[in-house]
Amino acid sequence: MSTHKLLLLPGDGIGTEIMQEVKKVLAWFNARGTAQFETEEDLVGGAAYDAHGAAISDAAMDLAQASDAVIFGAVGGPKWDGVPYDVRPEAGLLRLRKDLQLFANLRPAICYPALAGASSLKRDVIEGLDILIVRELTGGVYFGEPKEVTDLGNGQKRAVDTQVYETYEIDRIARVAFDLARTRRGKVTSMEKRNVMKSGVLWNEVVTQAHADYADVELEHMLADAGGMQLVRWPKQFDVIVTDNLFGDMLSDVAAMLTGSLGMLPSASLGAPDPATGKRKAMYEPVHGSAPDIAGQGKANPIAMIASFAMALRYSCELITEADLLEKAIAATLDKGLRTADIAEAGDATISTTQMGDAIIAELNALS
Ligand code: NAI
Ligand code: MG
Repeated sequence: MSTHKLLLLPGDGIGTEIMQEVKKVLAWFNARGTAQFETEEDLVGGAAYDAHGAAISDAAMDLAQASDAVIFGAVGGPKWDGVPYDVRPEAGLLRLRKDLQLFANLRPAICYPALAGASSLKRDVIEGLDILIVRELTGGVYFGEPKEVTDLGNGQKRAVDTQVYETYEIDRIARVAFDLARTRRGKVTSMEKRNVMKSGVLWNEVVTQAHADYADVELEHMLADAGGMQLVRWPKQFDVIVTDNLFGDMLSDVAAMLTGSLGMLPSASLGAPDPATGKRKAMYEPVHGSAPDIAGQGKANPIAMIASFAMALRYSCELITEADLLEKAIAATLDKGLRTADIAEAGDATISTTQMGDAIIAELNALS
C-alpha cells in the first residue's frame, strides 16, 4: 500500500468550507485502505497574515516542500484589501508557485453528462469531452524583459512586452505534456504561432525534439489561432494541448467555459521531477477564488475542490483507479440531479456544500 504526504492549505472564505469536504473524501480513502494519506494542515492567505503577518509562513513552506502534493483552497477577501502589497493574501499563492517552481499549469475541461445541456455549445459537440490544457506558467511574454512604457516626448508613448523562451523551458513543459498524455489517450497537440513568431519556431522545434523520447505518444502541431477555432468547433479531437503562457491563458479560459461553471473547475500546477525520486512538486486548487459573497453560508460548490483532489490522486499519487472512482462519484451525484446553487437551473432544488460532499461520499460507497 502506498503512502502519500499531503499539505492542506484551506485559506480564506469558502476555501475552508470546501476543504472540509475534501477531508471527508480523504478519510473515506484512508478507511478503504488501498492507499494511505498523511496530512498536515496550515494557514495561507489572509488567515496566515492575521496569524503571522505574512501570507504564508516559512514553516508552512517547509511542509509544502516536504509534501507529495499541496491541496490549496482559495485566498483573499475584502478584509485584507488594505494590507501591504507584498503580504497580501495572493502573495502566499505566488510564493508557493515560485518556491516550488510550478512551471506547468494543468486545466482540464471535462463534460459531465448531466450538465451537458447547460453548455452554450451543442450537446453532441461537448458530450463526453475530456481534454487537458497544459500551459507554461513561469516564462513567456508575462515575464520577458524588456517590459516597459517609454514616453517618446512627442505626445506618444511606446509600450513593450517581450516574449522570451529558452530551450529548457520549452523542453520541460513538452515533457510534462507527453508524460500526461501517456496516462490518458496518448495524443499531444502543441500550439504556437511559428508563422509570425520566432519563439513559435523554437517552440515547434524543441517540442518535436522532445517527442523523440515518446514514440508511443502522437504529436500534432497547430497554429494557436486555428487551435482556438478548433477548440470551439470540435473539442473532442484533442487529448492534451500544450502551449505557452499567453496562448494558454486564453485557450484554458475558453476550454473551461465549454462545459463549466466556476464552481466545477479544478486545476493543477506541476514542477520539475526530483532527480533522486522522479516525483514532481505539485499543487492542486480550484480555479475559483474565495467567493466572499457566499462565504460562511454553506452555498459553495465543493466539486472544483474535490475534482482538484482527484487530479492529485491521478498525477501526484499515481492512484489512477482511485482518481477514476472519485470522478465517477462526482458524475453520479450530478446524474441524480443534485445541485448546489451555482449549477442549478431555474426551479431546481438546491443542496448545501456539506450535503454535496456527503452525496459524493454516498456515491463512493455505492460504486465500490
Ligand atoms: P471568485 O472566484 O471568488 O468568485 C466569482 C463568483 O463565482 C462569485 O459570485 C462567487 O460566489 C462564485 N463562485 C466562485 N466559486 C464558487 C463555488 N465553489 N461555488 C459557488 N459559487 C462560486 O472571484 P472574485 O469574486 O473575483 O474574487 C474573490 C476573492 O478571491 C478576491 O479576494 C480574489 O483576489 C480572490 N481570488 C483568489 C483566487 C485563488 O485563491 N486562487 C483566484 C481568484 C480570486
Ligand atoms: Mg486567465
